[in-house]
Amino acid sequence: MLTKAIGALAMPLLLSLPPETAHRATIAALKYAPLLPKTASPPGLAVSAFGLDFPNPIGMAAGFDKNAEVAGALIALGFGFVEVGTLTPRPQGGNPQPRLFRLPRDGALINRMGFNNDGYDAARMRLAARPAGGIVGVNIGPNRDAVDRIADVASGVKTFAPYASYFALNVSSPNTPGLRDLQQRAAFDELAARVAEARAQAAERRPLLVKIAPDLDLRGLDDVVEVCARRGVDGLIVANTTVARPASLEGRDHGEAGGLSGRPLFESSTRMLARAYLRSGGALTLIGSGGVEDAETALAKIEAGATLAQVYTGLVYRGPALIGEILQGLALAVERRGPLAALTGSRAREWAAGEG
Ligand code: FNR
Repeated sequence: MLTKAIGALAMPLLLSLPPETAHRATIAALKYAPLLPKTASPPGLAVSAFGLDFPNPIGMAAGFDKNAEVAGALIALGFGFVEVGTLTPRPQGGNPQPRLFRLPRDGALINRMGFNNDGYDAARMRLAARPAGGIVGVNIGPNRDAVDRIADVASGVKTFAPYASYFALNVSSPNTPGLRDLQQRAAFDELAARVAEARAQAAERRPLLVKIAPDLDLRGLDDVVEVCARRGVDGLIVANTTVARPASLEGRDHGEAGGLSGRPLFESSTRMLARAYLRSGGALTLIGSGGVEDAETALAKIEAGATLAQVYTGLVYRGPALIGEILQGLALAVERRGPLAALTGSRAREWAAGEG
């Protein structure tokens, strides 16, 4: 209730500020506001995935809390889990501003942030200092000027092993030149092998997920799924932002370079999710990301094959009330149709059959 009221007051103001200023203000508010009342997950939404027990399947996607500053506050808002990062070994400033654009009529954003972040050490200290509780995944990637990109990622697995509930390896941001080449078969196999080795040497064995681009073709997806299953990767996050620009976009800034997120990403990322589900035959746990903006789109991700789903752009436009709305809608679906686990993949064939 309170969350809804705060959101209703703050959203028009936030949306009137330049996007990156609004983001900084939101992080500051979450950081310094007296702890928000905890939103409890409705009954029936608990989910088990890769050895972890989630209170509900809706997570905060990577890129919002890049520096692991507000994971506790996001969990208090009702998220079932939070993915911090992307973090790189050394701090870096990212691309010059402006680098984040709203396309309000499209329900979309374009960003070319370029992994602006405080680096592994600062985030490690924050995670070490935060009170225990809540599922917090750590999303890692290489520095822009990395000599050995795979070494950057593997060292993240060692650095964060004591604190990360799971790892997400980001090989799909369009804003670090050449990064997405790590999805190609030979490079991806080497990445998966070296990260598996780092995991074996780390203090704790944590679940490993790989976040892929929605722009991968079907052969590329087959390669990723095959390598993941063979190398012991636990799951995929499908998907990151897209470099595609659907003709339907109306926003003035649709021609800006970077990754497109939100509503125009929903169809293509959900189709890819379904294809990953059918191809992996249950061997990989899937997190759906791309265009979740209400209970219906969250449920569609689950029906297409996701065990969990993440939100970013929807939250920018709808504010924190969105989380409760999605959870209530999912609870209703469970009441009517049975447990979430039984809904996972129930419409994968229909989704996968879509054109394109
Ligand atoms: C992102 N996203 C992202 N993903 C990632 O793995 N690492 C990152 O650092 C970021 N950074 C980032 C910044 C901004 C401003 C946006 C909008 C997005 C991608 C994000 O996690 C998500 O996968 C996509 O945005 C698709 O989901 P939505 O936004 O359509 O719900």
